[in-house]
Amino acid sequence: MYDTVNRDTIHHLVHEFYALVLKDDLVGPFFINSLGSDLENGKWHEHLHTLDNFWLLMMIGKPGYSGDPFPPHAFLGPIPIEAFERWLELFKETTEKYFIPSIADKFYKKAEIIAEQFIENLGLNDEDDDDD
Ligand code: HEM
Repeated sequence: MYDTVNRDTIHHLVHEFYALVLKDDLVGPFFINSLGSDLENGKWHEHLHTLDNFWLLMMIGKPGYSGDPFPPHAFLGPIPIEAFERWLELFKETTEKYFIPSIADKFYKKAEIIAEQFIENLGLNDEDDDDD
């Protein structure tokens, strides 16, 4: 169990998370369509590197990721809300496996906020239509 967040521990998490995602029938196909099914290919190498930088910024404020995470998700075809829920479950499972609870919890809270923003931006929250 890791009790520190740095490039190495994040890379391990990110790699294991996407290995799990690729095997998932609901979320896996979105990634396979964009990046292929081999985590060792060039596109995946680039994606994993982007995600390492993204999580370094989210977790310890380390500069490196300077993109906007949302736009690619608008072009993946309709992603059902269930896929986001599954993504979050798999992420929780992976963070809890590799990090002490306080750190796993911080990862999950960040991911949940971002997933909620994506869901909102994609208009998947129809049941909240009459909020305002
Ligand atoms: C069902 C849910 C999701 C699916 C299917 C999905 C799929 C993808 C795919 C296929 C890409 C790569 C696009 C490309 O480079 O061609 C991507 C990029 C990315 N995703 Fe997701 N994603 C999901 C949820 C999330 C969540 C919840 C987060 C954050 C907590 C996230 C963070 C990112 C980031 C940071 C990138 C890189 C954006 C950039 O290029 O700057 N994704 N996602």
